[in-house]
Amino acid sequence: MAIADVSNVDLADLISLKGRTAVVTGGAQGLGKAMARRLAEAGASVLIGDIKLEAAQAAAEELSRRYGGKVIATRLDVTDSASIGDAAALAEAEFGSIGIWVNNAGLYPNIRLLDMTDETWDQVMAVNLRGVFASCREAARRMIEAGRGGVLVNVVSTAGFAGVAPGVSAYVASKHGVRGLNRQLAIELAPHGIRVLGVAPTFCETEGNTAALAELPDSVRSEISATLTSRLGRVGVPDDIARVVLFAASDMALFMTGSKLLADAGEIA
Ligand SMILES: NC(=O)c1ccc[n+]([C@@H]2O[C@H](COP(=O)([O-])OP(=O)(O)OC[C@H]3O[C@@H](n4cnc5c(N)ncnc54)[C@H](O)[C@@H]3O)[C@@H](O)[C@H]2O)c1
Repeated sequence: MAIADVSNVDLADLISLKGRTAVVTGGAQGLGKAMARRLAEAGASVLIGDIKLEAAQAAAEELSRRYGGKVIATRLDVTDSASIGDAAALAEAEFGSIGIWVNNAGLYPNIRLLDMTDETWDQVMAVNLRGVFASCREAARRMIEAGRGGVLVNVVSTAGFAGVAPGVSAYVASKHGVRGLNRQLAIELAPHGIRVLGVAPTFCETEGNTAALAELPDSVRSEISATLTSRLGRVGVPDDIARVVLFAASDMALFMTGSKLLADAGEIA
């Protein structure tokens, strides 16, 4: 399936997601909530899937009120393929089809190599890497069946390009894995009109990493904090990343697949 030539489409229509549908994993808070917000603002119907059901429902209600569109929530555990299937089925039942799937759910426990257990390593991989694979498989099956193409946006990290701080070996390995998956899926899914893009944020303050940092001993926290500066004069906020996800999901990026969009304030420069 060839992608459309949109040369004659107005700019406002290219960035608009009116009539589009999206699923955002881990969208109850942090970057995922900001992504769900921009997608809803652009006109998409959005399903927020998260293991934190109440927070996901609160986010969906807030966004529905704010933008007047259809934003709904469900409990989703990306480590469980059946749960992913249920969320996808719900999105199709409510919206008719799935056009955009954002894999954002992620874990980043800070545990140094010598203290890392097999169980914690496997848990990080189950969410950050296998969860992305299983979600892409589910979304792609349904997009291919519907025959209208689609977009998979996988949230990577600057930690998918380099080691970033002490204590995140499983996280860094998982995000390098997602980059590899993106490359391969872009090749496999292009014939179906499905684009696969990675968005790689640098550090942005979120509920998740604020809580994670607070749990660390002072000496470790200051060692990590020293690495969290930005060349652009301020620390990132979730919307800095959400705008890039909106671009990737929209027809503005129609000629892009397999790319990694660095939203990194120059960190990898
Ligand atoms: N915040 C940053 O600085 C930063 C930088 C680079 C990459 N990222 C990536 O962005 C994504 C979001 O990060 P964040 O800082 O917003 O995190 P966060 O911890 O604030 O939010 C993550 C969300 O994912 C959900 N989640 C966790 N496990 C899940 C599972 N098994 N199934 C479904 N949902 C699950 C959580 O409940 C939570 O709502 C992650 O993939 C992270 O690796 C974040």
